[in-house]
Amino acid sequence: MTPLPQATNPTRDLTQGPTLAPTRALGNGARIPVIGLGTFGSDHVSGAQVAAAVLDAAKIGYRQFDCASVYGNEPLIGEALQAVWKTIAPREEFWITSKLWNDKHAPRDVASSCEQSLRDLKLEYLDLYLVHWPFPNFHPPGCDIDSRSPDARPYVHAEYMETWGAMEKLVERGLVRQIGTSNMTIPKLELVLRDARIRPVCNEMELHPHFQQSEFVAYLMERRIQPIGFCPLGSPGRPERDRTPTDTAPLEDPVIRTIAEEHHIHPAAICLKWAVQRGEVVTPFSANPRNYAANLRAVTQDPLTQEEMEKIAATDRRCRLIKGHVFLWKQNQSWEDLWDEQGEITPA
Ligand SMILES: NC(=O)c1ccc[n+]([C@@H]2O[C@H](COP(=O)([O-])OP(=O)(O)OC[C@H]3O[C@@H](n4cnc5c(N)ncnc54)[C@H](OP(=O)(O)O)[C@@H]3O)[C@@H](O)[C@H]2O)c1
Repeated sequence: MTPLPQATNPTRDLTQGPTLAPTRALGNGARIPVIGLGTFGSDHVSGAQVAAAVLDAAKIGYRQFDCASVYGNEPLIGEALQAVWKTIAPREEFWITSKLWNDKHAPRDVASSCEQSLRDLKLEYLDLYLVHWPFPNFHPPGCDIDSRSPDARPYVHAEYMETWGAMEKLVERGLVRQIGTSNMTIPKLELVLRDARIRPVCNEMELHPHFQQSEFVAYLMERRIQPIGFCPLGSPGRPERDRTPTDTAPLEDPVIRTIAEEHHIHPAAICLKWAVQRGEVVTPFSANPRNYAANLRAVTQDPLTQEEMEKIAATDRRCRLIKGHVFLWKQNQSWEDLWDEQGEITPA
C-alpha cells in the first residue's frame, strides 16, 4: 500500500490555544484535518444538541465538521459556526464538508442544493462537497429499510457524470474548494476517474476495524484519493432500522478491548488511532463533551505500535453496517448488489 504523506502536527504553545489535530495533504495539495466531528444525530440527538457540540468542539480544537443537508440540522450548525468565527478562530482555519442528497442528482438541482447548504451553514464556500450516494433515489428521512421508492434507479454512469459535471461547475464558481464521492465502489470509481475533468479528492466510506475495506483503501491511496472513514467506532448509536442480527461491534472486540486496557483508554480511542495511523481521515460523531474531547486526544497523542496495528488489522470481520437497503431498485435483490461485490457494476 502506498502510504500517504505523513500528517503534520502543528505543535502549539498551549497558552495560545487548543492542541489542533494534525492535517493531511490531499492529492491537489489542500490540507484536511485528520479528524472531523460527525453531525448526523442518528434520529435521537437533536439539531440543537449537535450545534452545541459543534461550538464546544471548536473551542477544544476541532477544525473539521462533517455535515449534510439530509441530517436536517445545517441551519442550526450555521448559527453555531457564526459563533465559532466570532469567538474562537476565523473561517479560514476550518474545514467544512457538506453533501448532495440523493433526490438532487439532476444537474439543475446540484447548484441549488449547494447554494441552500451554503445559506443554511451561513458560508461563502464549502471546503468539500460530496455526492452522498451514487444512487439517485428519493426516500424520506427516517424511513424503514424495507421501504422502496417506486422510482428507485440503479447506478447509471452517464447520469452520474452529469451530476459530477454540475459538481465541477461548483468548483469553477468558487462555491466549493474540493469535490468528492461517498459510498462508491472500485468499479464505479474507475469510470469516474476515466471521465472526470476534476478528480474526486476524497471518498467518504464506512471504515472501522470490523469493516476495513483494505483493498479499496489501497486503491484510493494509490490514486491519491483520501479515504474519509464514517462510522469509525462501528456506529454504536445508529438507528434501530440500520441494525441486523449479524452485525458485529468493534468497540466490543476482545483484541481492541485488551489494547485499550493496556493504554488505559476507551476502545473508541483505539479505533480512531488505528484508523488515522493507517492513513484515514475520521469523522466520529459525539454529542458528549467527554467523548469528543477524548476522540480528539486519541489522534494527537500516544500512537499504537506496529504490533498493535497488525493485531487490529487481523480483527476484520468484513461486516458492513450501513448496507443501503433503501437504494435497491428491483424486487428480490440483496443489499450486496449495491456494492458491486462481483468486481463489476451490478447490471441494471
Ligand atoms: N457519507 C455517508 O454516507 C455517512 C454515513 C454515515 C455517517 N456519516 C458521517 O459519519 C459520522 C459518524 O457516524 P456514526 O455516528 O454513525 O458512527 P460513529 O462515529 O462510529 O459512532 C458514534 C457513536 O459513538 C459514540 N461515541 C463517540 N465517541 C465515543 C467515545 N469516545 N467513547 C464511547 N462512545 C463514543 C457516540 O455517542 P455519544 O454521543 O454519547 O458520545 C455515538 O453514539 C456521522 O455523524 C456522519 O457525519 C456519513
